[in-house]
Amino acid sequence: MPIRAALVLHGPNLNLLGTREPTVYGRLSLAEVNRVVQAHGRRRGVRVECRQSNFEGELIGWLQGAEREGFAGIVLNPGAFTHYSIAVRDAVASITLPVVEVHLSNVHGREEFRRHSVIAAVARGQIAGFGPQSYCLGLDALLGLGEVRARTPVNQRRRRGV
Ligand code: DQA
Repeated sequence: MPIRAALVLHGPNLNLLGTREPTVYGRLSLAEVNRVVQAHGRRRGVRVECRQSNFEGELIGWLQGAEREGFAGIVLNPGAFTHYSIAVRDAVASITLPVVEVHLSNVHGREEFRRHSVIAAVARGQIAGFGPQSYCLGLDALLGLGEVRARTPVNQRRRRGV
């Protein structure tokens, strides 16, 4: 099925981007990060919807409902849930939509407790350390999966004569 819409989920404390530990997470606000990934999606012919929650249950509800809502894949930054939430892991394992785990920071170069993700084994893969670009790379990873392919945007189709 072609991917027409992707869901980007941000976990706890990511609503504070821009002011939260800017030396680690950068100076872009969450709204600005969302604009970057949505613009990237538009260039790739994919509508990107972004949501953030500080609540495990809300993230799980969004993961469970994503297919029903018409999304074809999920880019997930689980925040600190990455390191201990078996409930988020089980939700990722329970759904058939592809999920790519992303992190702004390079979690593997930080504190010991951040080096382990309980999600990674059930996600399609993990991208970490590229700041807001991690989300764009996550979207590209979804698009690169065999079963998901971007609809070529109309303007590019015209240019290519297809
Ligand atoms: C994070 C890394 C996590 O360890 C941390 O708890 C976060 C953000 C990242 O994007 O680098 O909240 O997921």
